[in-house]
Amino acid sequence: MSKSCVVLVTGATGNLGPLAVAQLLKKDVVVRAFVLKDDPNVDRLPEGVEIHYGDLADPDSFDDAVDGISGAFLMWPFFTLSVDTAPAIVEKIEAQARRVTFVSSVGVHIGLEPVDNNCHAYIEQLLEKTSLDWTFLRTTGFHCNALGFAPQIRGGGDVVRFPHGAATRTSVHEGDVAAVGVAAITEDGHAGKKYLVSGPEELSQRGQVQIIADLLGREVRWEDIEQEAAQQAMVGSGWPPSYAQGALDYFAMLTKEPEVGSNVVQEVTGRPARTFRSWATEHLDVFR
Ligand SMILES: NC(=O)c1ccc[n+]([C@@H]2O[C@H](COP(=O)([O-])OP(=O)(O)OC[C@H]3O[C@@H](n4cnc5c(N)ncnc54)[C@H](OP(=O)(O)O)[C@@H]3O)[C@@H](O)[C@H]2O)c1
Repeated sequence: MSKSCVVLVTGATGNLGPLAVAQLLKKDVVVRAFVLKDDPNVDRLPEGVEIHYGDLADPDSFDDAVDGISGAFLMWPFFTLSVDTAPAIVEKIEAQARRVTFVSSVGVHIGLEPVDNNCHAYIEQLLEKTSLDWTFLRTTGFHCNALGFAPQIRGGGDVVRFPHGAATRTSVHEGDVAAVGVAAITEDGHAGKKYLVSGPEELSQRGQVQIIADLLGREVRWEDIEQEAAQQAMVGSGWPPSYAQGALDYFAMLTKEPEVGSNVVQEVTGRPARTFRSWATEHLDVFR
């Protein structure tokens, strides 16, 4: 793909979107970002991207953004939006583009997430029914989910209270997810692939906090708390109740058996997946 190719990124101002936009721009692709009007995070987007304002809840507002695209880097904001308009959005992408990369979840890979819960599996199924060359990135948790620990660590905090400290994930650098997605959209050979995208190592939640503490050069202790208390706090901070419960039940499962992992980042991008320590080093100021 090159300047004659136009790629649209949805969910563009979140954790992953700006990294995907930046990497696409480096590939000399014309990049469009689909952004909510008055999005406070629009300044996360790098220079050179075309910004198209609209709302995934309103498919008509998608028309300008999707017109003439050759590819889409599709992310769906499940936390804040139902999938009611997803069929119309996918249809509009199919009418214009040849390729689509969808950021899905490990939950689909391991069969934990059914189609009927209106989340990643549902959108995968919509895409499978199209004529698009689709690639699914079934990702484990992003390294940046550890930002959730920051309020308890910042400013000298010395204990992180959350359930299931022994839950062991294979979390992945969001920049590596972006890199796999960008390769899938700009290079041949990725159509029809359902990639499990993970980081390079198994690490418990407690282990993540230990690494942050080591880098800060001070003690930070982990304290397991009851799931119900954490669930209430998560819902209070905007998590849909079923997602909060699902995530915590999954962590409970991961205390007994670590999350699955893969070598997909290395295989697709030609370089090793980045460790949690390297992510924490990049973002250490958030925890100071
Ligand atoms: N985080 C993980 O561990 C994880 C794991 C597996 C899969 N995923 C998938 O990865 C995707 C990207 O994750 P992320 O952490 O980058 O997401 P995120 O930070 O929550 O970003 C969501 C993005 O969607 C935008 N958005 C929200 N409602 C919208 C609407 N109605 N119309 C258009 N845009 C809207 C948000 O804009 P505002 O900022 O203005 O709200 C933001 O740019 C997620 O959608 C999820 O499905 C994530």
